Amino acid sequence: MKETARLIVDGKTYELPIVEGTEGERAIDISNLCRDTGFITLDPGFGNTGSCISSITYMDGVNGILRYRGIPIEQLAEHSSFIETAYLLINGDLPTAGQLSQFSARLNDHSLVHEDMRTFFEHFPHGSHPMGILASMVNALRAFYPEIPQRSEEEEIDITFARLLSKLRTLAAMSYKISTGMKVVYPSHRLSYCANFLNMMFDSPVRPYHIDDDIVHALNVFWILHADHEQNCSTSAVRLVGSARVNLYAAISAGISALWGPLHGGANQAVVEMLQEIHDSGGEVEPFIKRAKDKNDPFRLMGFGHSVYKNYDPRARIMKEMCEKVLKKLRQSDPLLEVAKKLEETALKDSYFMDNHFYPNVDFYSGIVLRAIGIPLNMFTVMFAIGRLPGWISQWKESLDDPRGRLHRPRQIYMGSNKRDYIPVSERGQ
Ligand code: SDX
Repeated sequence: MKETARLIVDGKTYELPIVEGTEGERAIDISNLCRDTGFITLDPGFGNTGSCISSITYMDGVNGILRYRGIPIEQLAEHSSFIETAYLLINGDLPTAGQLSQFSARLNDHSLVHEDMRTFFEHFPHGSHPMGILASMVNALRAFYPEIPQRSEEEEIDITFARLLSKLRTLAAMSYKISTGMKVVYPSHRLSYCANFLNMMFDSPVRPYHIDDDIVHALNVFWILHADHEQNCSTSAVRLVGSARVNLYAAISAGISALWGPLHGGANQAVVEMLQEIHDSGGEVEPFIKRAKDKNDPFRLMGFGHSVYKNYDPRARIMKEMCEKVLKKLRQSDPLLEVAKKLEETALKDSYFMDNHFYPNVDFYSGIVLRAIGIPLNMFTVMFAIGRLPGWISQWKESLDDPRGRLHRPRQIYMGSNKRDYIPVSERGQ
């Protein structure tokens, strides 16, 4: 007999099925609640609501566990590459050597961007935020790469995946070069995905960029750590927009827009701005801890806390180690890393943070790595978006293939005026 939950309402008893995941998570299936009882549920922010059944990423927020297709994030960070991890997320298993080689070649084939797209960049107002530019350019890709009716749906989807994975990276580097008035550097078939990005960002005719294998590895790890995170805000945006059966470029553009927010992906930029403010004010962290605890102060400790992790974000642990490695390799020191470590140490001794389970999340140390590599601050969230793209793609694909998939249309409880009549403007008083 399948386990059920019993709901008693208006004197009637309803048996609701319980769904159990492969890692023991359990949910009460309310798919037929409204049809059977006339009731809906209410859950602002959806913190208690599962939007789907997924086989892509597993998170255990209590124990700080993260796995892509069952493989622990720690093992992928140590042994995999970003492109191999992207293949794993999208296709469900690690690729053979031949599959990986074919996948990489396909990404190389689609790494250029239509020359006419460059005029788009040149007409954005100076100082436009790169995330706004990126969201616009990704939406514009559909216009430059329209669907070809003769292609099968599967072929069209595979090409669109390759275009997005490869062109998003190229668009990001182009956006940076054009914004600084520098010559655009094209992708090279001789370079790997991550090395290509660094070269497109930092190579110059008068100062060739030296590609350091350790920095390329650091970028691979950075993007592996960001590649997916189950039903976070931006992924839910991609699934919701995708449920209307719009083209994938538009759904990904919606994900980029959601990620831009400072409570979500925009936090990596906000963390560095916060650390810089602490450093510039003398380096004392206590005043900022005090402000974060003050309910009358909207200030939050950026990079701390998480909707799911009530423990140390496993990605933050790896990112913190990466900071030390990259700075050591580049023979750099960053005063903001010292501020970050002091802030973490102080917060983790404070009952407000411990009682509320506010630990460092992926964004707390990631900006230090990006600063060391030379990524400009206003591109930090763009870096998050490039990393999250394989996750958005895999989640979109899973929702498209879901036999129970339907247009996402949440309900509400109405608390407005009861029925009232229209009053002509002449009778409305002053
Ligand atoms: C990402 O979902 C994902 O998986 C996201 C992500 C991914 O990979 O996709 O992991 C990436 O977005 C990481 C989070 C990055 N954002 C930040 O670092 C911003 C700072 N963190 C907070 O804004 C907050 O912790 C959230 C938004 C991340 C999570 O908050 P919750 O758990 O959804 O709950 P909430 O925002 O309603 O906060 C509950 C209370 C509030 O106090 P009250 O209004 O109830 O009095 O906790 C307080 C908050 O003020 N609080 C904090 C805090 N985080 C929450 N107070 C001070 N500092 C903080 N960091």
